[in-house]
Amino acid sequence: MTKINNYHVSATPIERTYLVGIHVRGTDPLLTVDESLQELKMLAQTAGMEVVGSTYQIVQKIESATFIGSGKVQEVIEDVQMLEAQSVIFDEELSPRHQRELEKRFGQDIKVIDRTTLILDIFAQHARTREGSLQVELAQYEYRLPRLTRQWTHLARQAGGGGSRSGNAGVGLRGPGETQLEVDRREIGRKIDKLKEDIERVRQHRERHRQQRIKDRVPVIALVGYTNAGKSTLFRALTGADVYAADQLFATLDPTTRRLELASGRHTVITDTVGFIQKLPTTLILAFRATLEEIAEADAIIHVVDLTHSNYIEQYEAVEDTLAELDVPSIPRILVGNKTDKLDNPAEAEDLISRIQLDENYKGKVTLSAINRQGIEALLEQIEDTLIEMTKRVTLLIPHERGDITSLMHNAGIVQSQSHVEHGVLIDVWVTPEMREKYSQYLHIEQEEPSDVQED
Ligand code: GTP
Repeated sequence: MTKINNYHVSATPIERTYLVGIHVRGTDPLLTVDESLQELKMLAQTAGMEVVGSTYQIVQKIESATFIGSGKVQEVIEDVQMLEAQSVIFDEELSPRHQRELEKRFGQDIKVIDRTTLILDIFAQHARTREGSLQVELAQYEYRLPRLTRQWTHLARQAGGGGSRSGNAGVGLRGPGETQLEVDRREIGRKIDKLKEDIERVRQHRERHRQQRIKDRVPVIALVGYTNAGKSTLFRALTGADVYAADQLFATLDPTTRRLELASGRHTVITDTVGFIQKLPTTLILAFRATLEEIAEADAIIHVVDLTHSNYIEQYEAVEDTLAELDVPSIPRILVGNKTDKLDNPAEAEDLISRIQLDENYKGKVTLSAINRQGIEALLEQIEDTLIEMTKRVTLLIPHERGDITSLMHNAGIVQSQSHVEHGVLIDVWVTPEMREKYSQYLHIEQEEPSDVQED
């Protein structure tokens, strides 16, 4: 795939890297600087790198030129040289100015990478659908554009060379008076435009499928959770689908959707989504519109938490914060405390999950082990209860010629009883508020428990 060459941070043979954290006094981040560096280490390993050392600095404020203090930069350079690291990763997003200045200080031989670039690279490795790949590629170029420095002047030639998915032709030829840097910028600008067009086309295609689903009115349940919480494993346990799960961050990037039939016979659609992580820039998340739309338009959300992770409460909060930041509406949620098989005492699970402060969107919580399916039944019951709670019981009188609506009710609603009367089919059914709205012209009785329907 086309990548921003040289900024594809994983390399063979295994790249040796050095991590730098920062804590600004007076701020209250979700994770301590040590915990965040631990997470960064896992990210670097997921990208295929070997972490050979790390350090952090507690500062009054971020240095406008060098991000960390210039004395500290010098110390890192010495460490990096001694440990023969090829790159240094900063545990924050670097501004274009920081990036330029740090590249200058570290010199040609040491790559300066920030957390966002690293995550983008992992996303690029894991995108499996065409839309996912295009979105990552676009996010990479957009992130890189203001950060282009002379050091990257070979970029246009390499990125423009054969095999570019975005189909952008050839080498950026230098116009009169143009520097190589300007050529590079122009080339990337063109690529960005082309990628946006491609993404729009794929989006429209997906939109048509989504409309079809809305028409079918099958309730959609989205799985969300911090990266590595076990969403894909749970998805597989629920649907039997063969989905890739790995002890790596961001193994799932593109939404994966399957049908799930509940005990009542009711059909739902369940969709696995991208993992969340603290400090994931919103612009980057927004690049994953596909996944986000699946979440924002779901009828219910299952939030999976790895109860055995030392920061599981912070991880829960990071996901909730991100959902709030993305304006995901107040959709009913179920909390799943996963990986109970890893606990010494299974009874501990209840205690751990009860420490999470749930907001009013949460309709229930279940502890389970996705890997050995213990507790899956309880989750299925909880899903059913949540869907019932969201629905209204109505009696519709559907004309005989609208058999399509009758069968839709059986598919997407929960039918209590049905009888044929003179003017059509009288059907007593639990439906979503949207379905009730859409078919309101057929409304016969609306009450919690409709009175007995006369059978003919
Ligand atoms: P991302 O794709 O990064 O968002 O991860 P995910 O949330 O989809 O997690 P995934 O299902 O890939 O699982 C991550 C790791 O946790 C894998 O190694 C799984 O085998 C493991 N795992 C998932 N569920 C369980 C569980 O119930 N018990 C145990 N012991 N391990 C689990």
